[in-house]
Formats: sequence, structure tokens, C-alpha cells
Amino acid sequence: MTTSSVNSLVQPLGEMPPDAIVFGRTEGMRAVRDRLTKLASANVPVLIQGESGTGKDIIARMIHATSPWRTGPWVKVNCPAIPGTLLESELFGYEKGAFTGAYGMKPGRVEMAHRGTLFLDEISELDMSLQSKLLQLLQDGQFCRIGAQEDKKVEVRVVCATNRKLEQEIENGTFRSDLFYRINVVNLHLPPLRERASDIPELVAYFLEYHNRKYNCRARALSSELMSELRKYHWPGNIRELENLVKRYVILGNEEVISSDLAPRATDFFNAEIPVDGQISLKKLTRQAVRELERKVILKVLQNCHWNRKQTARALSISYRALLYKIREAGLPSNRVVKRRDADSPKQDIAAD
Ligand SMILES: Nc1ncnc2c1ncn2[C@@H]1O[C@H](COP(=O)(O)OP(=O)(O)OP(=O)(O)O)[C@@H](O)[C@H]1O
Ligand SMILES: [Mg+2]
Repeated sequence: MTTSSVNSLVQPLGEMPPDAIVFGRTEGMRAVRDRLTKLASANVPVLIQGESGTGKDIIARMIHATSPWRTGPWVKVNCPAIPGTLLESELFGYEKGAFTGAYGMKPGRVEMAHRGTLFLDEISELDMSLQSKLLQLLQDGQFCRIGAQEDKKVEVRVVCATNRKLEQEIENGTFRSDLFYRINVVNLHLPPLRERASDIPELVAYFLEYHNRKYNCRARALSSELMSELRKYHWPGNIRELENLVKRYVILGNEEVISSDLAPRATDFFNAEIPVDGQISLKKLTRQAVRELERKVILKVLQNCHWNRKQTARALSISYRALLYKIREAGLPSNRVVKRRDADSPKQDIAAD
């Protein structure tokens, strides 16, 4: 195994917000912090659940940073970002000659994470055969490179994350229940931002300071009227949506950016009266309209495809990655069970993939 191949898979932990910002003051996050403190030193698998944008990635990195293996590797695998056929070799590696094109041996990410943390993001996207291999890894710390004769042993802390309800996946027959019990030794549930509304002012102040510094801007604190709007908003994209909003405000420089970002969700943009008296910013209206149209189209196609995102990406002729990005940017939920939020989204529980 060459040093460069190891380094390319072991990622830096990256910058993290201060603990006071990450956990805030609400009961739900206090419970997360208490659990995190208790589990830090125990090498048990952890499952982090929460809606998209609630901070699962940050919490996973914190688990690594506070563990006795913090000086070891941090290896993150974003399961849906790697095509199904490649995922097995990415995770478990292969021997020379294991398949056509395997000209040399390649270690997988599981091996790279030896004496460190393996973070499996969006674990529900693993197919059944990979789930069995992961189960073996969790049961006895062993795995087998593709084409190898013998199993190898690793010591690794496995942290998984998902924004899906795995219990439902088990019922659907797409997730192994024995694997669920293995990865769910300790469960951390991250509450959605709408249940942490009292933390919004501090989060806004933090993001404002952070992005002012990053983009060398001087955007001022938000007015109290706008802050109370933010506290009432339902935040389908959670903290990611809040951060994006503050970032846009910092860069574009006026509060209208925020109010107009919140407004289209409440109104049907295309049927709304367009104000023709006074000053109209055509650029701004067009930008909002495009964003809202894109959001509606993605939502409709997601519903048509029963929230199967791979199928949706194909139907929209965009890459899977681009779709995930757009879903996040639009603040659309990526869970399949969503409650009514839009006038145009039918009031129903949306079916599974
Ligand atoms: N508690 C928090 N404090 C400060 N910033 C946060 C917090 N949680 C999330 N963020 C910010 O929100 C964004 C999304 O967070 P993160 O990637 O951890 O969410 P996630 O739950 O992994 O989302 P997804 O399910 O879409 O992968 C990041 O830019 C992160 O910096
Ligand atoms: Mg994530």
C-alpha cells in the first residue's frame, strides 16, 4: 500500500463550529451532548439520525475528535456518491487480478480506517450484499478484499448516519435488521431546526461573523423583525438552509434577500400578483422564479419516482450529485415521509423508494 493511496482516502477533519453553537441550549441537543460525552471513549458503533442539514456530519467528526482514536485516520464514505458497482471495491479493496482491470492490489477505505473512525454517510444506500459484508466487519472486525483468499482483521470505530427511517427500510425489506441492531448500539437523534428555534439568534450571529470574515464583508446584524420571522419559519433544510440564507445576505448585502427567500415558499409565485407600481428588480424576480420553478419540478419528479433519487436524477437528466445538491439548496426534505408544506404537494405520506 503506497503512502499516497493512503493519504488520498484519509481526510482532514476540517473546521468545526464551537461547541456552544453546535449544541445550543435546547433539551434535544443537550441530550445529544450528554450521550456524546459518554460514548467518546467506548469503541461502540454509533448511528446518527436526523433530517438533512441537522448536523450529522459535524457530530460524526466530533465523535472522532473526542475519541481515543482521534490521532488515527478519519475516513468518510458518502455511500450514494459512489456508484453501486464501485462501492464494494472502494470499501473493501481488491487483489491484483480480482477482475478485469485490477492490474494491482488496492486497499479499501475500511482498511484505511484502521485504528481510526470509519464514517458511513447515508448508510441506507448500501445494497444488501454490502450490508452483509459490513455486518461481518462489525461482528468480528474481519473483511475480505475482492478476489482475496483470506479475511483480514481491522480495528475500527464505525459511525453511520442516515436521514431515513431505517425501521421503515427494514419493513420494506431493503435493510437488514441484524445490521441495524449492530450499527445502532448508541443512537444519536439530531432534532430539526424548527424544534430548536430558540437557538436561531446565536446560529445567525455565528454564521454572520463567519461569512463576514470569510468573504471579507461587513454585513450588519439582522433586524429584530426579521429575526422573529426566522424563528417562526419551518426550516425544511434545517441548519444548512439557515447558513445558506445568512451567506446570501452577507454577500448580497440586504435583508430583502432573506425575506424574499422565505416568501416564495408561502406564496404560489407564478399565480401571485406581480407588483408593477414602484421599483421592480427584474433580476431579483427572475432569480426567485427560476429557483422556485426548479424546486417545484424537482419535488414533482421526486414524488413521481416515489422519492427514488437515482431515478429522479435520470428523469431530470442531471447527475445524482447535482440532484443531491439541488435538493439541499432548495431545502427539500430527503426523507420519504413528508408532511404537507407546499400548496402543491399533496397531503400524504410519500411512498418509499
Ligand atoms: N449544530 C450546528 N452548528 C453549526 N452549524 C451547523 C450545525 N449543524 C449543521 N451546521 C451547518 O449546516 C450545514 C449542514 O450540516 P451537516 O452537513 O453536518 O448536515 P447533515 O445532517 O450531515 O446533512 P445531510 O443529511 O444533508 O448530509 C453545514 O454547513 C454545517 O456547517
Ligand atoms: Mg451529511
